[in-house]
Amino acid sequence: MNMNNSSDSEKVIVTERLCRNFQVRLKAEGLGASIRNFFKPVHKTVEAVKNLDIEITRGEIIGFLGPNGAGKTTTLKMLSGLLVPSSGSMRVLGHNPFERQTDFLKKISLVMGQKQNLWWDLPPLETFAIHKSIYQIEDNSYKERIDELISMLEIEDCLQTQTRRLSLGQRMRCELAVSLLHQPEILFLDEPTIGLDILMQKKIRSFLLDYHRRFRPTILLTSHYMDDVAALAQRVIVIDLGSKIFDGGLRELTDKIHPDKLISVIFNQLPADQLIKQIGKLVFNDGMYFKFRVKRSAVPEIAAKLYSTGQVADLSIEDPPLEDIMGQLFIAGASQTKSQP
Ligand SMILES: Nc1ncnc2c1ncn2[C@@H]1O[C@H](COP(=O)(O)OP(=O)(O)OP(=O)(O)O)[C@@H](O)[C@H]1O
Ligand SMILES: [Mg+2]
Repeated sequence: MNMNNSSDSEKVIVTERLCRNFQVRLKAEGLGASIRNFFKPVHKTVEAVKNLDIEITRGEIIGFLGPNGAGKTTTLKMLSGLLVPSSGSMRVLGHNPFERQTDFLKKISLVMGQKQNLWWDLPPLETFAIHKSIYQIEDNSYKERIDELISMLEIEDCLQTQTRRLSLGQRMRCELAVSLLHQPEILFLDEPTIGLDILMQKKIRSFLLDYHRRFRPTILLTSHYMDDVAALAQRVIVIDLGSKIFDGGLRELTDKIHPDKLISVIFNQLPADQLIKQIGKLVFNDGMYFKFRVKRSAVPEIAAKLYSTGQVADLSIEDPPLEDIMGQLFIAGASQTKSQP
């Protein structure tokens, strides 16, 4: 494939002070107000995306995160040319997405977990054939790609069934197949695992990792499942109330928000109170099982101390759950934004 003839550090997505507002009609309470509102509606402006600056390099997998209503879907729609920005600028693969040039559309794909690209009444195989002709994919490459996607996504059995009769997990995998048929250089994934059971979420994640390893597309992914983010994202961009509040590695995010680690220990005999006090803050205890919160930098020393007692049956060191970290970040982000004039 001729996807990577440009340098690895090529910026494929660049936005500057990107904004998108929506006018929403305010609901009026009571009959009188409703009637007045009908004749003279009152609107307010929602700033869904506010001065967003992002830069994404070819081949990156970015977790694009934020609470409900943060502006993620709006951003993805702008980047894929479905929505026109209110102000600011953006370049995606050197194009202005909202011009929707064929050349641009052939290089991207947008998959939305809540919406579908497959035709409801047709079996996926027929949607694939339609996609082939829309994207003018040659017979040989089509055959090769479809075979590869069918085997990677394990969708052999669903191809001839009407889409409406497929399970959510089967449909999602067929969605991914159709959106990848034209081998997009950029893949926008808006909650691709939403509503799927844990096993299916895992399958989709490992498919995406495998696909990325083979074809190196740039992926911008939103998800409310932190396991998706931990497994896939090399970098995370977090937005809240339309503005960016964090951009960096997951490790960096964890360190910044939560400089502590959790040490879980199972002792083989009840430890002395004095030892417990020396370790750190005890956050949980049940019989021989103890969980401590410990400063990141002190972990090696404390682990060594614990082992040296000869009373440790098992020991594990973890980061606090990513959900907790994100929760704290949103609280911090919201208060930061509120405190701005
Ligand atoms: N077409 C629209 N008309 C009016 N308001 C809209 C429209 N689309 C989005 N909004 C508003 O813009 C804000 C951002 O919405 P958006 O869908 O981008 O959030 P999100 O981060 O994708 O949230 P979620 O995690 O729930 O999917 C919200 O306040 C939403 O109500
Ligand atoms: Mg959304």
